[in-house]
Amino acid sequence: MSSETTTPSTSLVWRDMTVFDGLETLPESMAVVVSDGHIRQLTPMSRFDTSDLDQYHDMGSGGVMTPGLVDCHTHLVFGGSRADEYEARLEGVSYEEIARRGGGILSTVNATREAREDELYAAARPRLEALMADGVTCVEIKSGYGLDVDNELKMLRVARRLGADLPVRVVTTLLGAHALPPEYRDDSDGYIDLVCDEMIPRAAAEGLADAVDVFCEKIAFSVAQCERVFHAAIKHGLPIKAHAEQLSNLGGTAMAAELGALSADHIEYLDQHGINAMRKSGSVAVILPGAFLTLRETQKPPIAELRAAGVPMAVATDANPGSSPLFMPTLMLNLACTLFQLTPREALSGMTAHAASALGMKEVGRLYEGAPADLCVWDITTPAELAYAVQPGRLRQRLFKGDVNS
Ligand code: NIG
Ligand code: FE
Repeated sequence: MSSETTTPSTSLVWRDMTVFDGLETLPESMAVVVSDGHIRQLTPMSRFDTSDLDQYHDMGSGGVMTPGLVDCHTHLVFGGSRADEYEARLEGVSYEEIARRGGGILSTVNATREAREDELYAAARPRLEALMADGVTCVEIKSGYGLDVDNELKMLRVARRLGADLPVRVVTTLLGAHALPPEYRDDSDGYIDLVCDEMIPRAAAEGLADAVDVFCEKIAFSVAQCERVFHAAIKHGLPIKAHAEQLSNLGGTAMAAELGALSADHIEYLDQHGINAMRKSGSVAVILPGAFLTLRETQKPPIAELRAAGVPMAVATDANPGSSPLFMPTLMLNLACTLFQLTPREALSGMTAHAASALGMKEVGRLYEGAPADLCVWDITTPAELAYAVQPGRLRQRLFKGDVNS
């Protein structure tokens, strides 16, 4: 017989909690017990045994518990700032016109290429900390401002380092096909060759990318070019996703869905054909109200049609220096409801359970017995309040893998 002993770890308990489990608000007031990094009990108060409460560390009572927020679409690692371009757009120059003039994404590319890895890390870390202070426990970070092999890998290394240093899960996405770099100005297919033949194989071999993304748009890459990128990703075992139908309806979403994309993101101009393809593939529709707002877009994503088709919807910040310099996930919950008429429940599922699906992360974004204890406790009385009011300071506790760190 083994004589091994186990050291009992401290169990944490919350009582009288309103719990939103990632999909819905549980009907009864709950007790929640966490130990060894996991949720051990999620029990209605009426059935919770309070006789031996002293075995637990009391974490308080009342308020709303949700899964840790999942921001499934960000561009947090970048050099420079585009405040000047923001001003130009306010004076009437369009996002597309700025891109054609070599500004926009390309101005961030210049600044990102010039920055050393340490500088990019130092700039990105407070952005990520801002998301964490608003409840994020899992974040996706894309490359896409390097646009050559070394600089794309540099961005992904910075993202990995952020995940290693901070109490947050970082999922990395290679977005080599984000814009055409100046050195390939007349050879867009040649650049796609570089993405397929060098960037994706290197990122996969070095374990730097968890997925591959593209920007399928007139100012970026065609459906056929994006399809080539996806085939290369699939060949290297990487899941795929797309920025699609943001500024026009090219059909990138349907193509991506047919290849099994985890998600199609933006999708303001998505048509019924694209929605049907998403429904068939189970791809998640990622709604990005920050970019819609910042670009003063008027075409709304087809929310009612997506809902009717049963396509899961996620909501994310799209935090980036150009189209969405907005680093506040709970603001996105509000905007998704106010601008697009998502219900608060849909918005919150969109930043928890469905956001996790958009990243292919099965184990996060939901609260259930056995789940990792990535969760938030908020000083509010109903989950809807999180979307209703834009009010920093309501995050009472944030747990990452069972550790309280806010
Ligand atoms: O998600 N749509 C393309 N890419 C980013 C914008 C990046 C930028 O403007 O720097 C987006 O909106
Ligand atoms: Fe984006």
